Amino acid sequence: MRIDIITVLPELMKSPFEASILKRAIDKGLVSIHFHDLREHSKNKYRQIDDYQFGGGAGMVLMVEPIDKCISQLKSEREYDEIIYMTPDGTTLNQSIANELSLKGNIMILCGHYKGVDQRVRDHLITREISIGDFVLSGGELAANILCDAIIRLIPGVLSNETSALTDSFQDNLLAPPVYTRPADYKGWKVPEILTSGNTPKIEEWREDQAIKRTKEIRPDLLDD
Ligand code: ADE
Repeated sequence: MRIDIITVLPELMKSPFEASILKRAIDKGLVSIHFHDLREHSKNKYRQIDDYQFGGGAGMVLMVEPIDKCISQLKSEREYDEIIYMTPDGTTLNQSIANELSLKGNIMILCGHYKGVDQRVRDHLITREISIGDFVLSGGELAANILCDAIIRLIPGVLSNETSALTDSFQDNLLAPPVYTRPADYKGWKVPEILTSGNTPKIEEWREDQAIKRTKEIRPDLLDD
């Protein structure tokens, strides 16, 4: 998979790709990340990429031209499955969207900033708009980092134990059951006996029950559909 990220703050976004699972995925050649600084596509000698909004009102808006230039250049080099705009008024990200996007070949992600982008970008260039939740960040960069993390860990071969993504919370609309490791008794805080019994079918049954119990308590909305 190839991910192209268009942003005014590439430096802000780099470190999550330089450690742990994401770095390993890149080193293994399973994904490549390419940053594009929007200012490089400004035709203006001040490298201007934003302007006041028509009609008045507080906050700057990212201009259509530098974004169109950048996206058009990338599209002339390869085909993209999705051109995603990170915005608080997009569709809320969930595991099923992450699963779907992890199967794509080339995706582009545009990070919004200030008041957002000129609506014509959204109308003519963007194929999908994604929010990471009902709150407003100072820009789309951190949201794009989160989207990339959620997608990349699902690409086949990224996680060493592939079943570990299948047992994540949300994969089956349930929260994950509790997990424990050694010691089995710490200060009298004991691990549930069933987990040390060696009885695999019973353990699976217990995990399923725990997942349902947790989901009912914390996220009953997940059980609605
Ligand atoms: N940009 C600002 N806030 C955001 C959010 N919640 N999700 C995606 N992009 C954003």
